[in-house]
Amino acid sequence: MVMVRPCFRSIIPLLIILPSSLFTPSSSSLHPNALSKGLSISVDHEHDNLVSPNGLFTAGFYKVGINAYCFSIWFTEPQAKNENPTVVWMANRDTPINGKHSKLSLHDDGNLVLEDADQSTVWSTQTKSTNGSLSLKLEDTGNLVLHQLNGIPCMLWQSFDYPTDTLLPDQLFTKDSQLVSSRSRSNFSSGFFRLYFENNNVLSLLYNGPEITSVYWPPPFLKTWEAGRSTFNNSRIAKLDSEGKFNSSDEFGFFVSDFGIRRSRIMKLDSDGNIRVYSLVGRKKWEVQWQAFSNPCKIHGVCGANSLCTYSQEHGRKCECVHGYKKKNQSDWAYGCEPKFKPCEQGEEDYIQLHHVEFYGYDMRFLQNRTLEACKQDCLNDCNCKGFQFKFDTNFYNCYLKNLLYNGYQLGFEHSTYIKLPKNLVSSFQQALVNEIDPTPVVPNI
Ligand SMILES: *[C@@H]1O[C@H](CO)[C@@H](O)[C@H](O)[C@H]1NC(C)=O
Ligand SMILES: *[C@@H]1O[C@H](CO)[C@@H](O)[C@H](O)[C@H]1NC(C)=O
Ligand SMILES: *[C@@H]1O[C@H](CO)[C@@H](O)[C@H](O)[C@H]1NC(C)=O
Ligand SMILES: *[C@@H]1O[C@H](CO)[C@@H](O)[C@H](O)[C@H]1NC(C)=O
Ligand SMILES: *[C@@H]1O[C@H](CO)[C@@H](O)[C@H](O)[C@H]1NC(C)=O
Ligand SMILES: *[C@@H]1O[C@H](CO)[C@@H](O)[C@H](O)[C@H]1NC(C)=O
Repeated sequence: MVMVRPCFRSIIPLLIILPSSLFTPSSSSLHPNALSKGLSISVDHEHDNLVSPNGLFTAGFYKVGINAYCFSIWFTEPQAKNENPTVVWMANRDTPINGKHSKLSLHDDGNLVLEDADQSTVWSTQTKSTNGSLSLKLEDTGNLVLHQLNGIPCMLWQSFDYPTDTLLPDQLFTKDSQLVSSRSRSNFSSGFFRLYFENNNVLSLLYNGPEITSVYWPPPFLKTWEAGRSTFNNSRIAKLDSEGKFNSSDEFGFFVSDFGIRRSRIMKLDSDGNIRVYSLVGRKKWEVQWQAFSNPCKIHGVCGANSLCTYSQEHGRKCECVHGYKKKNQSDWAYGCEPKFKPCEQGEEDYIQLHHVEFYGYDMRFLQNRTLEACKQDCLNDCNCKGFQFKFDTNFYNCYLKNLLYNGYQLGFEHSTYIKLPKNLVSSFQQALVNEIDPTPVVPNI
């Protein structure tokens, strides 16, 4: 990899002799793997792509929907037959452009601009260079780099500084970087999960959904040091190396399970909020070599409000509404469930008990050494209380009143959550239990 200093950043002149072949400004015709000043890549010409010298990566227009394209970088070779190529970067994921007359141009003023069919700018690098020639090149690492070639060659811009949802080996993740998940497996627009360095220097995962935001990694119920992290190193830098070792300045690190084997790798924040490292095995299949969560129900926000997440190796993750609630958006669990009843009809309410179930967070009140009856009364007296968790902590039972029911999942140990509902819904729930074949279901089938 040729290291070229960034333009305008370092004051120390750093003279690097570059192999001249790499930076021969192309003539007016399009060079197969470089774009020079005044030239464009057009969406109308399917083969107008930039290809890395090793052939591994391609940059061009990627189709994301009917007549909708994003300027992207992907692994050139599709994996299995009929499968889409693996995209590693996108310029305009939230503003796809028209499949006709759109183009990416390297303007004379040094700005790299993506224009839609109506010539409106949907994305640009906001770079400036009025002096000398420029070259946009896709490197073997998958990094798309804009170089200024005259005088002291320098780097004006690189895609590695603006990751989408994927990190490639040796791509630095810094205090300015973030990964944002896709909306779904097939929808590339920005989703609800984010990887970033938190203000306390800790590499963190955040759920930033339609209704709530919540940090879920490292696990929020642990102290930073209990999670094996340090808040003291403010360099805020992390990297997956080409061998498969990940290390972060907050002392988080891991080795992937195929560490040391030479394979293509990606580290991706998936649309389910889990972060995974995949290796390309046998040039055909991306296989998971590491993941942050083995139980995806621990990822906040996955099932939205008022719903319960269950997970089994066999069936994967499943969301279902709590009894008395119905799914808000049929096509998307992120919106959770809404009550089928009129909330807070005082005097007309009772509880259903969900065994081994916790709803993490949103404790409006914590009451120590409480009887179940007292706790029920506390919640009945407060319109904002949606239910409560009743839990034995060392010496006595404690009561956690909830004003929101989020992050609901099953736990293995003794733990109960009581959901406040109108009496008629409570009796219909109990009837449903009687009708169950298994007399003591862990989770109600609704
Ligand atoms: C243009 O580049 C030349 C050579 O690199 C340099 O001497 C000159 O000062 C530059 N002019 C401007 C306006 O930056
Ligand atoms: C992708 O998701 C976004 C946000 O929900 C939505 O606006 C857009 O229409 C979706 N795109 C496709 C192609 O379904
Ligand atoms: C902070 O982290 C960086 C990157 O991991 C490391 O090189 C540096 O030595 C660390 N600094 C201290 C004081 O530990
Ligand atoms: C990451 O680096 C720290 C020192 O900054 C070290 O203590 C730790 O063992 C490293 N982790 C891995 C997996 O290499
Ligand atoms: C339901 O979810 C889909 C997909 O995310 C979204 O496009 C749509 O706007 C949502 N509808 C409502 C009513 O929120
Ligand atoms: C818990 O409450 C009961 C009844 O009010 C009381 O007798 C007991 O001393 C309390 N226990 C502790 C440890 O405070």
